[in-house]
Amino acid sequence: MNLLHQIRQLFAPVLSELAPDAVKVPDYLAMVKPAANAEHGDYQANFAMPLAKALNRPKEAQQIAKEFIAKLPPNDVLEEPTVAGPGFINLRVKPGFVAKAVRQVAADERLGVEPVAKPRMFVIDYSGPNVAKPLHVGHLRSTIIGDALTRILRFLGHTVITDNHLGDWGTQFGILLYGYKHHRDAAAFAADPVRELSRLYVHVRGLFKKGDEDDEEGPADDPVKKACQEETAKLHGGDPENVALWKLFMPACLAMLQPIYDRLGVKIDHALGESYYNPMLPGVVEDMVAKGIAFESKGAVVIPNAKGMIPRTEEEQKKEDPPAIVRKRDGAFTYTTTDLATIEYRAETWKPDTILYVVDARQALHFKTLFAQARRWGYDPVEFQHISFGSILDEEGKPFQTRKGQVVELGVLLDRAVNCGLQGYRTSYEERTAHGHDVPDLSDRTIQQIAEAVGIGAVKYADLSQNRASDYKFDVAKMLATDGNTATYMQYAYARCCAIFRRENIDPARFRTSPPVVTLVEPAERALAFQLLRFPEAVEAAAADNLPHQITSYLWDLAKSYSVFFENCPVLKAPTPDLRDSRLLLVDLVGRVIKQALDLLGIRTVERM
Ligand code: ARG
Repeated sequence: MNLLHQIRQLFAPVLSELAPDAVKVPDYLAMVKPAANAEHGDYQANFAMPLAKALNRPKEAQQIAKEFIAKLPPNDVLEEPTVAGPGFINLRVKPGFVAKAVRQVAADERLGVEPVAKPRMFVIDYSGPNVAKPLHVGHLRSTIIGDALTRILRFLGHTVITDNHLGDWGTQFGILLYGYKHHRDAAAFAADPVRELSRLYVHVRGLFKKGDEDDEEGPADDPVKKACQEETAKLHGGDPENVALWKLFMPACLAMLQPIYDRLGVKIDHALGESYYNPMLPGVVEDMVAKGIAFESKGAVVIPNAKGMIPRTEEEQKKEDPPAIVRKRDGAFTYTTTDLATIEYRAETWKPDTILYVVDARQALHFKTLFAQARRWGYDPVEFQHISFGSILDEEGKPFQTRKGQVVELGVLLDRAVNCGLQGYRTSYEERTAHGHDVPDLSDRTIQQIAEAVGIGAVKYADLSQNRASDYKFDVAKMLATDGNTATYMQYAYARCCAIFRRENIDPARFRTSPPVVTLVEPAERALAFQLLRFPEAVEAAAADNLPHQITSYLWDLAKSYSVFFENCPVLKAPTPDLRDSRLLLVDLVGRVIKQALDLLGIRTVERM
């Protein structure tokens, strides 16, 4: 039950009759959209202008809009459409239809969201932390967004395989190897290897000469950096001591990550990190050379860019559309080589239609060139997309950093949010008790669970409610605000829906198994019902452009309609028993839609807060 689909179905035959070119009909149908201004209607259709052009009557869009309306067969979906301005068609759904449809949705477990007609196979590459380093907040964003996209696409019926492309083989291990050999505190390592390794990482990075602040690897002529690079090269070359140490460090590094994933409620199907592809890298380079895609140049192997350019200097390497090095002069392979091997592996193993890379915006150039190379290499049937996102900023508006000792551990940030959640619960408990409400005493364990759901939910929602391209500030107080577009607000709204049924001892099941007739008397209840019907639109919009904030924007609109409804339409004290039932159905449905929408974002709900 998707309103927009229904309207398009109604319009399709009329447009086919009117349009000179039937191929264009789907484009015209795509121009039926939610109304920009709710005062003008529920939806608007903007196809009259292009249709007028196609008909060679460019000045008569208004007339054509009227002709379209005249041809529309009688139906129970729409009121008589009106024409505005140069030919916009305003559409309003009949209240009777809204009432009938909302009743149908109440009986639907999927809340009106239809599975897609043609499911696709997706691989989503997300999270991807560099394991020997303290976890960066940038990876938090990737983890939250990647998880939400996975849930949304799966809910729509697509097949999604998720893969955590761990940075478990990179230069950061050289830093650890060097640190471990020269600066380790043996007792500290024995007691807590994870903590000692993060200390070593930060300590050794601090030994690098100050250079370009943005160059994560330090200035080129730095002796400590050189020594670290040698350790990395030895590891990659199979040096037994370094390989043994790598094997010693890895479980500790992974153990550092697991609690965070558990806490976030994120499960990633595979964790084939960079090290997994190491044995395949020589084969990738050979194959690309054999196919004439990569060439030897001064001892290195490079892939020229589309214009055939081979980089001569580091400067050239950094330019737009740069050629890529797949094997350095010293024999080392690169991030690109590994990513090419990964594409080959994924394409052959999982045969995806689409691979999404949820990685921050700074890697845009890497992915642009990687995708071009992969296509030249023969993977053009696969659709590649970089799902990029902005930075998380600290209180001062600067990106969080993990180097130069400024480690902001992710666990600490999450703790901060959960503590705030706990305080929120306590304050509300005291307020309610002071007002003489009968507040149950929950166990400490239950309260802790509520605080986790609220704190973690707040962090996720704050992230997902941004357009992912934007940067945003990590501001815990704002994230947990109880009045605004936050998870806390939505979770409250959900808990309030539950409370109505709980307090009156009403079993909501009957509103789902045999929904009562819905009657929409007040404008506020008609508006709420209409909003409930738009849930499928929000899910589809989120999936279409991989933008989870489409769902939070929807939730915010729903919450606003709900609170207007609440102020204007008594539920338990409704004038008639039938109207009471009809309103209870709406309340139950609001709760279900909020719960489902939050679930698509990986956010938990609790029945009491
Ligand atoms: N480990 C990388 C980083 O932190 C992210 C990996 C992204 N995925 C990929 N296939 N390159 O920069």
